[in-house]
Amino acid sequence: MKLVRFLSRKNKKNWFAVWLNVVVMFGFLVTAAQSYAGENNADMRAFLEQMPKAELHLHLEGSLDPQTVSRLANNNDLNFFNSADDVKKSLSNREPGLNGFLSHYNKALQVLKTQDDFYNATYELLRILDQNNIIYVDLFFDPQEHTRRGISFDEFFNGIDKGRIEGEKAFGIKVNLIMCINRNLSVQSAIEALEQAENYKDKIIGFGMDSGPEYGNPPLKFKDVFARARREGYYLTGHHDVHVQDSVKHIWQSLDIIKLDRIDHGLDAVNDAELVTALRERNICLTGSPVKRTSDPEPQDIDAIRKLDDNGVCVSLHSDDPGQFESGYLSNMMILVQEAGEFSKADMTRLMLNAFRALWLSDEEKKSYINKLKTYAAANTVVWNEVTRTKSK
Ligand code: ADE
Ligand code: ZN
Repeated sequence: MKLVRFLSRKNKKNWFAVWLNVVVMFGFLVTAAQSYAGENNADMRAFLEQMPKAELHLHLEGSLDPQTVSRLANNNDLNFFNSADDVKKSLSNREPGLNGFLSHYNKALQVLKTQDDFYNATYELLRILDQNNIIYVDLFFDPQEHTRRGISFDEFFNGIDKGRIEGEKAFGIKVNLIMCINRNLSVQSAIEALEQAENYKDKIIGFGMDSGPEYGNPPLKFKDVFARARREGYYLTGHHDVHVQDSVKHIWQSLDIIKLDRIDHGLDAVNDAELVTALRERNICLTGSPVKRTSDPEPQDIDAIRKLDDNGVCVSLHSDDPGQFESGYLSNMMILVQEAGEFSKADMTRLMLNAFRALWLSDEEKKSYINKLKTYAAANTVVWNEVTRTKSK
């Protein structure tokens, strides 16, 4: 009754006081919610940044950022890409799709000329990977793109290898190298690349295939080259970029005929239920790369990653060409993916666990890397059974 009297129509002042209180309380709740969300975001970002990581899909040539490309172009007296803006323009004006990207990529990599250029590119890349808490990297390089410009395999490889050795020492990262043949070049050229690598076989862990277009250049084209690389002791991997004509058919070829150990990208597999089952049962991992271009609202293929992960496929996240995509290096990409997909800490840890599961190392070495991730998860109160999606005993 007192309240009724207090708020009686005549008592306008009291009505005003109530209204003011409601407004203030509402404002307080909104601010509290915002600051809680902000703290949560900051906490998630720190969790992802500091997570120990494995990077399995990264092209040395794609790590060159616009500033580096233009500096090298000027140092090497080239008459293109003489400013970072030239490089940015070329990136933003490129044709859509993989081929548009590759025509920029294949031009930008030409600024690498001397052994020192390759050394610096590798060493500086490892410095950035260390800042991303990457503790293991399988690094791609494209030999034919350099030999076809008159740079010998020995010349550029020794630069990369020196950068690798010194970077490993300086930053404590384990680095393995994967040479990639270009699927658009001839079989003969791929064989020559394999032969040129002969002297460095012990320093190269894997033999891969990249570039494009994929349509018209299926894995079967290189069946004998892959078989020879396998006999020579390399692990095998190959690119199957997303949204490419016939990519599902090509992934089947890579699984059944070429018998790749790993597949780069490969997210189109989500469109074929039998293929999803085959990848899971044969434990073939996909090194996904949901990059974000400037024009994309968010990283691509989040739904495919979630669906593959929910179906038990070993799918992981990687940066591909971090100098050339807005998604950048792995910490940033993981933040973008987590935000877009609203993944939990356990989900993000599982995507990284998949990368460690995919390493071409002994079980013991893999276990030691996985234990680092496990310790990190525990320190961040992430329940390991939720990461592995197994029931606790
Ligand atoms: N070379 C560098 N990045 C590539 C990609 N995403 N696909 C094929 N070839 C590449
Ligand atoms: Zn790639």
